Amino acid sequence: MCGIVAAAARREVSEILLEGLRRLEYRGYDSAGMALIDEKHNLKIHKRKGKVSELENAQRQHPYHGNTGIAHTRWATHGEPSGLNAHPHISGQRVALVHNGIIENHAALRVELSEAGYEITSATDTEVIAHLLHSSLSAGGSLLQAMQQTVVKLEGAYALAAIDIANPDTVIGARKGSPLVAGVGIGENFLASDTMALRQVTDRFIYLEEEDLVCITPDSLQVYNADGSKVQRPVERIKEGLETADLGSFDHYMIKEIFEQPAALEATFAGATNAQKVEERFGLAAPALFDRVKKVQIVACGTSFHAGLVARYWLEEIAGVSCEVEVASEFRYRKRVQYEGTLLVVISQSGETADTLAALRNANADEFLGSLVVSNVDNSSLVRECDLVFLTRAGIEIGVASTKAFTTQLVALLMLTLALSRRRGLSESRQQDIITALQYLPRCVQQTLELNDAVQHLSEAFISKRHALFLGRGIQYPIAMEGALKLKEISYIHAEAYPAGELKHGPLALVDDDMPVVAVAPNDELLEKLKSNLEEVRSRGGELFVFADKEAGFANESRVRILPMPHCHEVIRPIVYTVALQLLSYHVALQKGTDVDKPRNLAKSVTVE
Ligand code: AGP
Repeated sequence: MCGIVAAAARREVSEILLEGLRRLEYRGYDSAGMALIDEKHNLKIHKRKGKVSELENAQRQHPYHGNTGIAHTRWATHGEPSGLNAHPHISGQRVALVHNGIIENHAALRVELSEAGYEITSATDTEVIAHLLHSSLSAGGSLLQAMQQTVVKLEGAYALAAIDIANPDTVIGARKGSPLVAGVGIGENFLASDTMALRQVTDRFIYLEEEDLVCITPDSLQVYNADGSKVQRPVERIKEGLETADLGSFDHYMIKEIFEQPAALEATFAGATNAQKVEERFGLAAPALFDRVKKVQIVACGTSFHAGLVARYWLEEIAGVSCEVEVASEFRYRKRVQYEGTLLVVISQSGETADTLAALRNANADEFLGSLVVSNVDNSSLVRECDLVFLTRAGIEIGVASTKAFTTQLVALLMLTLALSRRRGLSESRQQDIITALQYLPRCVQQTLELNDAVQHLSEAFISKRHALFLGRGIQYPIAMEGALKLKEISYIHAEAYPAGELKHGPLALVDDDMPVVAVAPNDELLEKLKSNLEEVRSRGGELFVFADKEAGFANESRVRILPMPHCHEVIRPIVYTVALQLLSYHVALQKGTDVDKPRNLAKSVTVE
């Protein structure tokens, strides 16, 4: 989703801004732009539809230079992707502004500004902010006052960075509902949507809080809170090595991240050698809160929602704790009834997903015992706002299609299950059995990765298809859902998942020789039922691709192709089978020639509603 980079320095910043945008490309975008204040104090702007490389070409052909500048990658919400709608937006040849978020009252503001004589040229919700800022500056306010007067008129979510030629060494920023960090340098300071964008210039960051304003020059960085008072926010140093975005020998981040899973899973579980240590990973306040948990309410979006659905099986079967799971965009607007003693669990790789964040904020103080977030990003908004935090140790995930973040979320949720099970009388031996299974997990995932060539071979059958069905039963049903989501996200093949028992209640009508059916079939107590469901498919001409435990008794035969999965403990099977489905999607997309890491229309961090 939209990315912001800004700099105020004693040196030329165009290359810093462009490098920042390149580092934000993983978030997803469809146009890019940059504005600089040059040495004659004029605004110089390049904007291009498409990739950052288009913007680089523009800069190469017509180089602009300046020590103060802002840059942006735009993921279109209001108005098509185009040079005109790309940010920065300008007003009066004086102010330039970039924005991440959505201004909900932009239509009313357009009317107001048009009446005041401003001509609005783009279809965006952003341009009005530039005019509001200009209008306040024209009335004689300082840049800080102008920004303060502007943000109070905005309804919705924003992270902003703006420059004004009358304050040529200053960038002013603001945030509400969308992330913005300040990067601290020597003789230079920066703003960006995330720390990744600025790692080439600094390792010291200030995480701005809700409704903060920030004013940077080369030699100063001042944060103001919502009341307009100067505040000191802590400067945090990012540790070396935590945020490398190097492809290494891989062609895509997605396949690199799939292959990083054994290490990521091991790191996430590291040190948790007994139930007590498992619990410690949730923080000091966890034991007192976990003692009172009678029910769990999980809220998340997309792949993280699927992790929640898997956890429901574990929490109810192993811990005996009632659990409900809901997508955040529905949960946040629904009138709800909660039982006493309910723990709210939000799951989010990025920790910035707007719907999940809103769901957390909308939860009434008396509705839940407390909140726990499972996230991959330290210092993200959800991490800062939840009572308890479990940080997965997947390392930065660049591919838009989530892979290692999902499987590490599952490890975290199995650890939560263990922590709650202890209090509900789960035997020591069963606890240890699950811990041993988790310790064995990286090896099992490694064995699955060794099936890469076999999966690649299977994937060839999907290239010409327009639709696919994914089937699973029990805890493998959400894994089938995740498999279908992965395939549609990156290969653009329409894929749906069903619990296999539902087939004859409708979807069987779709089955013919043009509809590949993928079945997730470990050797569990539902295997014989699943086999009957698959026979229903085969006898109607469907072609089956069965991801089956070696010991499940499947054999390759006419219209049935088997991927023999390593035999592993039942509790970790959802994680292991996920990896094979990730490989399938990757190979289908690769052969279809889609943009695997940056699928069309999608963004890595969904910071707007
Ligand atoms: C995953 O492949 C997707 N790109 C998407 O569904 C993602 O999981 C969703 O947007 C939620 O993101 P989060 O985990 O960062 O909150």
